[in-house]
Amino acid sequence: MSRTDAIVRLLARDEGPIFRTLRLEALTLDAETFASDAGMEAVRPAEWFAERVVEGVAGAFVGGELVGVAGYSRHTNPKQAHKATLFGMYLRRAHRGSGLAGRLVSAVIEHARAEGCERLLLACNARNDGAIRLYEAAGFRRYAIEPRALKQVDGSYADDALYALDLA
Ligand SMILES: CC(C)(COP(=O)(O)OP(=O)(O)OC[C@H]1O[C@@H](n2cnc3c(N)ncnc32)[C@H](O)[C@@H]1OP(=O)(O)O)[C@@H](O)C(=O)NCCC(=O)NCCS
Repeated sequence: MSRTDAIVRLLARDEGPIFRTLRLEALTLDAETFASDAGMEAVRPAEWFAERVVEGVAGAFVGGELVGVAGYSRHTNPKQAHKATLFGMYLRRAHRGSGLAGRLVSAVIEHARAEGCERLLLACNARNDGAIRLYEAAGFRRYAIEPRALKQVDGSYADDALYALDLA
């Protein structure tokens, strides 16, 4: 399928179930790249996924099928509400290297601007070179490394690279 067949847009209010399916796939197939856990999220109620979608999840569709997602979550504390986090970036393997990941990041940035977000944050495994190149190409700048941010199931630790994009 060529990239011209692809559509990138925010998911609609009733698309929580397809977001859930792809999110659980991401947490299963690329478990080491995410802080969250498939087992933990599989038992979450449908409303939790619906709420994420209402807040803003960009989706990449190819041939009408959801193949990639990137989430947007606004911070709720009033003193932090100028910030939001890009989370859950995932593209099915067959569609990697197609440019869709960049379009997903751009869609989240566009949504953040429209929501009046001033600073978009993300955390990424410091060894995830492909994702890091993608975020840096989109304008994110690294502001810190969090050592031993995650402890994997095998007992090894992973550092997170912390990135921000100023929109104000
Ligand atoms: C992270 C992920 C979504 C990236 O998707 P991808 O299709 O593999 O990424 P892309 O190939 O489009 O982007 C990476 C490359 O394109 C380049 N690129 C993307 N947009 C660009 C732009 N606008 N300008 C210049 N370069 C760009 C990047 O520099 C990078 O270069 P490389 O070919 O040397 O690696 C995907 O690999 C994935 O789902 N991985 C598993 C889950 C994961 O790691 N999620 C991130 C959690 S933080």
